[in-house]
Amino acid sequence: MKIKQKPKIIVTRAIPLTVTDVLSEKFSVELNVTDRPFSKEELKQAFKNSDGILCTVSDQITKDIINSEGRRASIISNYGVGVSNIDISCCEKIGLIVTNTPNVLTDATAEVALFLILAVSRRTTFLEHKLRQHKWKGFSITGDLGSSLHGKTLGIIGMGRIGQSTARKVINSLGMRVVFFNRSPIEQLNFEARQLRSIDEVLKCSDIISIHAPGGGLEPILMEKHLQMMKKSAYVINTARGDVIDQQALIRALKNGSIAGAGLDVYLDEPTVPEPLMKLDNVTLLPHIGSATIETREAMGMLAVNNLKAHFFDKEYPSRVV
Ligand code: DGY
Repeated sequence: MKIKQKPKIIVTRAIPLTVTDVLSEKFSVELNVTDRPFSKEELKQAFKNSDGILCTVSDQITKDIINSEGRRASIISNYGVGVSNIDISCCEKIGLIVTNTPNVLTDATAEVALFLILAVSRRTTFLEHKLRQHKWKGFSITGDLGSSLHGKTLGIIGMGRIGQSTARKVINSLGMRVVFFNRSPIEQLNFEARQLRSIDEVLKCSDIISIHAPGGGLEPILMEKHLQMMKKSAYVINTARGDVIDQQALIRALKNGSIAGAGLDVYLDEPTVPEPLMKLDNVTLLPHIGSATIETREAMGMLAVNNLKAHFFDKEYPSRVV
Protein backbone atom coordinates (compact mmCIF):
# COMPACT_ATOMS: atom_id res chain seq x y z
CA MET A 1 0.00 0.00 0.00
CA LYS A 2 1.26 3.45 -0.87
CA ILE A 3 1.76 5.55 2.25
CA LYS A 4 0.71 9.13 1.69
CA GLN A 5 3.20 11.59 3.12
CA LYS A 6 2.03 14.25 5.49
CA PRO A 7 2.20 17.78 4.03
CA LYS A 8 5.22 19.66 5.34
CA ILE A 9 4.72 22.86 7.31
CA ILE A 10 7.55 25.21 8.25
CA VAL A 11 6.83 27.30 11.32
CA THR A 12 8.79 30.56 11.36
CA ARG A 13 8.66 31.35 15.10
CA ALA A 14 8.28 29.46 18.39
CA ILE A 15 4.66 28.49 19.06
CA PRO A 16 2.86 27.02 22.12
CA LEU A 17 3.42 23.29 22.73
CA THR A 18 -0.30 22.59 22.64
CA VAL A 19 -0.42 24.02 19.12
CA THR A 20 2.66 22.04 18.02
CA ASP A 21 1.01 18.83 19.25
CA VAL A 22 -2.15 19.40 17.21
CA LEU A 23 -0.17 20.53 14.17
CA SER A 24 2.02 17.42 14.28
CA GLU A 25 -0.98 15.09 14.17
CA LYS A 26 -1.63 15.91 10.51
CA PHE A 27 1.57 17.49 9.26
CA SER A 28 5.26 16.92 9.11
CA VAL A 29 6.45 19.96 11.02
CA GLU A 30 9.70 21.92 11.04
CA LEU A 31 9.79 24.15 14.11
CA ASN A 32 11.92 27.17 14.91
CA VAL A 33 12.67 26.50 18.58
CA THR A 34 15.23 29.32 18.73
CA ASP A 35 12.42 31.84 18.01
CA ARG A 36 14.94 33.95 16.10
CA PRO A 37 13.10 35.59 13.18
CA PHE A 38 14.01 34.14 9.77
CA SER A 39 16.17 36.20 7.43
CA LYS A 40 14.86 36.95 3.95
CA GLU A 41 16.94 34.08 2.58
CA GLU A 42 15.61 31.68 5.22
CA LEU A 43 12.05 32.69 4.33
CA LYS A 44 12.74 32.00 0.66
CA GLN A 45 14.12 28.58 1.58
CA ALA A 46 11.07 27.90 3.73
CA PHE A 47 8.77 28.59 0.76
CA LYS A 48 10.89 26.24 -1.33
CA ASN A 49 11.10 23.40 1.17
CA SER A 50 7.55 23.21 2.49
CA ASP A 51 3.94 22.77 1.41
CA GLY A 52 2.75 25.48 3.76
CA ILE A 53 4.16 28.28 5.90
CA LEU A 54 2.97 29.13 9.39
CA CYS A 55 4.25 32.67 9.92
CA THR A 56 3.46 35.81 11.87
CA VAL A 57 3.60 39.61 11.93
CA SER A 58 7.40 39.70 12.31
CA ASP A 59 7.88 37.94 8.95
CA GLN A 60 7.86 40.36 6.04
CA ILE A 61 6.52 38.18 3.24
CA THR A 62 7.42 40.36 0.28
CA LYS A 63 6.79 39.93 -3.45
CA ASP A 64 10.40 38.88 -3.74
CA ILE A 65 9.95 35.99 -1.34
CA ILE A 66 6.59 34.93 -2.73
CA ASN A 67 7.91 34.87 -6.31
CA SER A 68 11.22 33.26 -5.45
CA GLU A 69 12.24 30.44 -7.74
CA GLY A 70 11.13 26.93 -6.88
CA ARG A 71 8.39 27.95 -4.44
CA ARG A 72 6.53 24.88 -3.28
CA ALA A 73 4.36 26.30 -0.48
CA SER A 74 0.73 26.76 -1.53
CA ILE A 75 -0.55 28.45 1.64
CA ILE A 76 0.54 31.14 4.09
CA SER A 77 -1.23 30.59 7.38
CA ASN A 78 -0.66 33.82 9.29
CA TYR A 79 -0.55 33.54 13.09
CA GLY A 80 -2.34 36.87 13.58
CA VAL A 81 -5.32 38.78 12.30
CA GLY A 82 -3.37 41.59 10.62
CA VAL A 83 -1.82 40.61 7.30
CA SER A 84 0.01 43.83 6.45
CA ASN A 85 3.25 41.82 6.74
CA ILE A 86 2.24 39.93 3.59
CA ASP A 87 2.09 41.29 0.04
CA ILE A 88 -1.56 40.39 -0.36
CA SER A 89 -2.00 41.71 -3.90
CA CYS A 90 0.92 39.56 -5.05
CA CYS A 91 -0.68 36.49 -3.42
CA GLU A 92 -3.97 37.34 -5.12
CA LYS A 93 -2.28 37.57 -8.50
CA ILE A 94 -0.67 34.16 -8.29
CA GLY A 95 -3.44 32.43 -6.33
CA LEU A 96 -1.40 31.79 -3.20
CA ILE A 97 -3.79 31.16 -0.32
CA VAL A 98 -3.50 33.40 2.77
CA THR A 99 -5.39 32.81 6.00
CA ASN A 100 -5.43 34.69 9.32
CA THR A 101 -6.73 34.42 12.90
CA PRO A 102 -9.57 36.90 13.54
CA ASN A 103 -12.13 36.87 16.41
CA VAL A 104 -10.02 34.96 18.94
CA LEU A 105 -7.87 37.99 19.80
CA THR A 106 -10.59 40.64 19.85
CA ASP A 107 -10.99 40.98 23.61
CA ALA A 108 -7.30 40.62 24.42
CA THR A 109 -6.45 43.49 22.07
CA ALA A 110 -9.31 45.62 23.34
CA GLU A 111 -8.05 45.02 26.90
CA VAL A 112 -4.69 46.49 25.92
CA ALA A 113 -6.42 49.49 24.33
CA LEU A 114 -8.34 49.98 27.59
CA PHE A 115 -5.12 49.65 29.58
CA LEU A 116 -3.40 52.29 27.42
CA ILE A 117 -6.36 54.66 27.76
CA LEU A 118 -6.10 54.41 31.56
CA ALA A 119 -2.31 54.58 31.59
CA VAL A 120 -2.00 57.74 29.49
CA SER A 121 -4.84 59.62 31.11
CA ARG A 122 -3.39 58.99 34.60
CA ARG A 123 0.26 59.31 33.45
CA THR A 124 1.14 56.02 35.13
CA THR A 125 4.31 55.30 33.16
CA PHE A 126 5.86 58.65 34.09
CA LEU A 127 4.67 58.47 37.70
CA GLU A 128 5.79 54.88 38.30
CA HIS A 129 9.16 55.74 36.83
CA LYS A 130 9.45 58.65 39.23
CA LEU A 131 8.57 56.42 42.18
CA ARG A 132 11.04 53.69 41.18
CA GLN A 133 13.78 56.33 40.95
CA HIS A 134 13.03 57.32 44.57
CA LYS A 135 11.84 60.74 43.42
CA TRP A 136 8.35 60.54 44.89
CA LYS A 137 8.05 63.08 47.72
CA GLY A 138 4.76 61.74 49.09
CA PHE A 139 1.08 62.48 48.55
CA SER A 140 0.27 65.84 47.04
CA ILE A 141 -3.08 67.53 46.46
CA THR A 142 -1.91 69.40 43.41
CA GLY A 143 0.84 67.18 42.03
CA ASP A 144 0.80 64.00 39.96
CA LEU A 145 -2.59 64.81 38.44
CA GLY A 146 -4.06 63.14 35.39
CA SER A 147 -7.44 63.62 33.77
CA SER A 148 -10.73 61.84 34.44
CA LEU A 149 -12.35 59.63 31.84
CA HIS A 150 -15.97 59.47 33.03
CA GLY A 151 -18.18 61.42 30.62
CA LYS A 152 -15.31 62.04 28.20
CA THR A 153 -15.43 61.03 24.54
CA LEU A 154 -13.51 58.19 22.95
CA GLY A 155 -13.20 58.53 19.19
CA ILE A 156 -12.73 55.20 17.47
CA ILE A 157 -11.34 54.96 13.96
CA GLY A 158 -12.36 51.61 12.52
CA MET A 159 -15.42 50.07 14.18
CA GLY A 160 -14.69 46.41 13.44
CA ARG A 161 -14.58 43.67 16.04
CA ILE A 162 -11.75 45.17 18.12
CA GLY A 163 -13.14 48.71 17.84
CA GLN A 164 -16.52 47.48 19.07
CA SER A 165 -15.04 45.52 21.94
CA THR A 166 -13.03 48.58 23.02
CA ALA A 167 -16.14 50.77 22.78
CA ARG A 168 -18.16 48.37 24.90
CA LYS A 169 -15.43 48.23 27.52
CA VAL A 170 -15.03 52.01 27.87
CA ILE A 171 -18.79 52.60 27.99
CA ASN A 172 -19.49 49.87 30.54
CA SER A 173 -16.46 50.20 32.76
CA LEU A 174 -15.42 53.84 32.43
CA GLY A 175 -18.66 55.62 31.62
CA MET A 176 -17.21 57.20 28.49
CA ARG A 177 -19.15 58.26 25.39
CA VAL A 178 -18.15 56.90 22.01
CA VAL A 179 -18.10 58.44 18.54
CA PHE A 180 -16.54 56.71 15.58
CA PHE A 181 -15.53 56.75 11.97
CA ASN A 182 -15.94 53.68 9.82
CA ARG A 183 -15.69 53.55 6.02
CA SER A 184 -19.02 51.77 5.68
CA PRO A 185 -22.11 52.64 7.70
CA ILE A 186 -22.71 50.50 10.78
CA GLU A 187 -26.40 50.09 11.48
CA GLN A 188 -26.55 47.78 14.43
CA LEU A 189 -24.50 48.13 17.54
CA ASN A 190 -25.59 46.80 20.90
CA PHE A 191 -24.24 49.87 22.69
CA GLU A 192 -24.63 53.59 22.23
CA ALA A 193 -22.14 55.16 19.82
CA ARG A 194 -22.46 57.86 17.18
CA GLN A 195 -21.03 57.33 13.71
CA LEU A 196 -19.57 60.55 12.29
CA ARG A 197 -19.05 61.25 8.61
CA SER A 198 -15.32 61.90 8.61
CA ILE A 199 -12.16 61.18 10.54
CA ASP A 200 -11.72 64.97 10.95
CA GLU A 201 -15.03 65.24 12.80
CA VAL A 202 -14.01 62.42 15.15
CA LEU A 203 -10.61 63.99 15.79
CA LYS A 204 -12.05 67.41 16.63
CA CYS A 205 -14.53 66.26 19.26
CA SER A 206 -12.69 63.41 21.00
CA ASP A 207 -10.70 63.38 24.23
CA ILE A 208 -9.05 60.12 23.28
CA ILE A 209 -8.58 58.64 19.81
CA SER A 210 -8.12 54.89 19.41
CA ILE A 211 -7.30 53.38 16.04
CA HIS A 212 -8.62 49.95 15.14
CA ALA A 213 -8.03 49.83 11.41
CA PRO A 214 -5.71 47.49 9.54
CA GLY A 215 -2.31 48.74 8.46
CA GLY A 216 -0.76 48.33 5.06
CA GLY A 217 -2.41 51.38 3.47
CA LEU A 218 -0.61 53.60 0.98
CA GLU A 219 -0.36 56.35 3.57
CA PRO A 220 -0.94 56.68 7.32
CA ILE A 221 -4.50 57.28 8.52
CA LEU A 222 -3.27 59.91 10.98
CA MET A 223 -0.87 62.40 9.43
CA GLU A 224 0.52 65.70 10.73
CA LYS A 225 -2.60 67.64 9.71
CA HIS A 226 -4.81 65.17 11.56
CA LEU A 227 -2.80 65.38 14.76
CA GLN A 228 -3.14 69.16 14.57
CA MET A 229 -6.93 68.83 14.48
CA MET A 230 -7.01 67.03 17.82
CA LYS A 231 -7.66 68.82 21.10
CA LYS A 232 -4.44 69.83 22.87
CA SER A 233 -5.67 67.82 25.86
CA ALA A 234 -6.30 64.66 23.81
CA TYR A 235 -4.46 61.35 23.69
CA VAL A 236 -3.96 58.91 20.86
CA ILE A 237 -3.95 55.13 21.30
CA ASN A 238 -2.59 52.67 18.75
CA THR A 239 -2.97 48.91 19.11
CA ALA A 240 -3.38 48.33 15.37
CA ARG A 241 -0.22 48.71 13.27
CA GLY A 242 2.65 51.21 13.37
CA ASP A 243 1.98 52.46 9.85
CA VAL A 244 -1.51 53.79 10.64
CA ILE A 245 0.11 56.89 12.22
CA ASP A 246 2.88 59.04 10.77
CA GLN A 247 5.37 58.17 13.53
CA GLN A 248 7.63 61.19 13.04
CA ALA A 249 4.65 63.56 13.01
CA LEU A 250 3.40 61.91 16.19
CA ILE A 251 6.73 62.45 17.93
CA ARG A 252 6.66 66.13 16.90
CA ALA A 253 3.09 66.52 18.18
CA LEU A 254 3.99 64.89 21.49
CA LYS A 255 7.08 67.07 21.87
CA ASN A 256 5.49 70.38 21.01
CA GLY A 257 2.35 69.74 23.05
CA SER A 258 -0.13 69.82 20.20
CA ILE A 259 -1.56 66.66 21.78
CA ALA A 260 -1.31 65.55 25.42
CA GLY A 261 0.06 62.05 25.05
CA ALA A 262 0.01 58.65 23.38
CA GLY A 263 -0.33 55.01 24.29
CA LEU A 264 1.34 52.76 21.74
CA ASP A 265 1.59 49.00 21.36
CA VAL A 266 2.84 49.00 17.76
CA TYR A 267 5.57 50.81 15.80
CA LEU A 268 6.56 51.49 12.24
CA ASP A 269 9.69 49.39 12.06
CA GLU A 270 9.38 46.83 14.85
CA PRO A 271 11.25 46.03 17.01
CA THR A 272 12.87 49.46 16.57
CA VAL A 273 11.29 52.11 18.78
CA PRO A 274 12.59 55.60 17.97
CA GLU A 275 14.82 56.98 20.71
CA PRO A 276 12.96 60.36 20.84
CA LEU A 277 9.75 58.47 21.62
CA MET A 278 11.45 56.59 24.47
CA LYS A 279 12.57 59.87 26.00
CA LEU A 280 9.07 61.35 26.23
CA ASP A 281 7.24 61.49 29.56
CA ASN A 282 3.78 61.67 28.02
CA VAL A 283 3.74 58.21 26.44
CA THR A 284 3.13 54.64 27.49
CA LEU A 285 4.96 52.21 25.24
CA LEU A 286 4.26 48.47 25.05
CA PRO A 287 6.06 45.82 22.98
CA HIS A 288 3.24 44.68 20.63
CA ILE A 289 1.35 42.64 23.24
CA GLY A 290 -2.24 43.18 22.06
CA SER A 291 -2.88 39.47 21.63
CA ALA A 292 -0.23 38.29 24.07
CA THR A 293 -2.16 36.18 26.56
CA ILE A 294 -1.64 32.44 26.95
CA GLU A 295 -5.27 31.72 26.11
CA THR A 296 -5.31 33.98 23.06
CA ARG A 297 -2.03 32.77 21.60
CA GLU A 298 -3.27 29.17 21.92
CA ALA A 299 -6.59 30.00 20.30
CA MET A 300 -4.79 31.84 17.47
CA GLY A 301 -2.53 28.84 16.95
CA MET A 302 -5.45 26.39 16.83
CA LEU A 303 -7.19 28.58 14.27
CA ALA A 304 -4.02 28.81 12.19
CA VAL A 305 -3.76 25.00 12.29
CA ASN A 306 -7.42 24.62 11.31
CA ASN A 307 -6.80 26.86 8.31
CA LEU A 308 -3.95 24.57 7.26
CA LYS A 309 -6.09 21.47 7.76
CA ALA A 310 -8.84 23.02 5.65
CA HIS A 311 -6.36 23.73 2.88
CA PHE A 312 -4.78 20.29 2.74
CA PHE A 313 -7.80 18.15 3.60
CA ASP A 314 -10.44 19.90 1.54
CA LYS A 315 -12.51 21.55 4.20
CA GLU A 316 -13.95 25.03 4.45
CA TYR A 317 -11.36 27.57 5.59
CA PRO A 318 -12.32 29.07 8.96
CA SER A 319 -10.74 32.39 7.95
CA ARG A 320 -9.35 32.90 4.49
CA VAL A 321 -8.02 36.27 3.35
CA VAL A 322 -6.98 35.34 -0.21
C1 DGY B 1 -2.44 40.50 15.10
O1 DGY B 1 -2.97 39.41 15.20
O2 DGY B 1 -2.58 41.21 14.11
C2 DGY B 1 -1.57 40.94 16.24
O3 DGY B 1 -1.15 42.23 16.08
C3 DGY B 1 -0.38 40.03 16.34
O4 DGY B 1 0.20 39.97 15.10
